[in-house]
Amino acid sequence: MKVLGICGSPHKDGGSAQLLLAALKGAQREGAETEFVSAYDGEIKPCKGCIQDEEPDCKYPCVFEDFGKALLEKIYSADGVIFSTPIYWFAPSGPLKVLIDRMTCLENMVAFGEPSYMEGKVFGAIAVGADAGGPYVGGYLITTMTCMGAIIPPWGIAYSHKGNRAIHDEKALLDAINVGILVARMIAVLKGQKKELSFVDDVELMRKIKKKIIEELGLGGST
Ligand SMILES: Cc1cc2nc3c(=O)[nH]c(=O)nc-3n(C[C@H](O)[C@H](O)[C@H](O)COP(=O)(O)O)c2cc1C
Repeated sequence: MKVLGICGSPHKDGGSAQLLLAALKGAQREGAETEFVSAYDGEIKPCKGCIQDEEPDCKYPCVFEDFGKALLEKIYSADGVIFSTPIYWFAPSGPLKVLIDRMTCLENMVAFGEPSYMEGKVFGAIAVGADAGGPYVGGYLITTMTCMGAIIPPWGIAYSHKGNRAIHDEKALLDAINVGILVARMIAVLKGQKKELSFVDDVELMRKIKKKIIEELGLGGST
């Protein structure tokens, strides 16, 4: 099973990256193959609105040849996707929002007599701010993805308001690890395996993952 993590922050070692890495480690623990990509690693052109009621031109693959198209291909071939975004004025970051708009080409396959290409993918959401808006942004992401046909597992959302110190927000960190675990378990269930879809309240696991991420990102004295 493949779980793709898309980070919506310009900071490679920021709070969004920290909690996304934690989620991916949770997914790996459940046997997932994971990939971390950043929405800031290339240009994602804004959606030009090919979709129209009379003439639905919007279909996968998207017409733009850019980094956004490469990300859409990664989403298309993943079993599960986790977005982790900084909270920018009670919304996801610009590049992530543009990518979501571009995902319309996956969803709009329904206009061509096919199921939405998001149907059956499992989705988790993480939001990191310095002040407020976590449930708002996480809720937005989950609402949008379920409306595209994705499946949200239980405990599929995590948020922190500790900014680039999110790794030290142990409640949020455990929640993020559970986003990864539950995304992976839900994928397994959909593939016919028997899995418990319950919250894993394992403080020892959380501390182990915290230590690893601090080492990997070289956060020693900086957070
Ligand atoms: C343009 C902009 C808007 C922001 N708006 C909010 C906000 O509405 N709520 C909040 O809690 N933090 C807000 N912040 C703070 C960031 O979410 C915070 O710095 C966070 O750590 C960024 O995530 P990162 O460390 O992964 O880059 C904003 C930051 C910027 C640059």
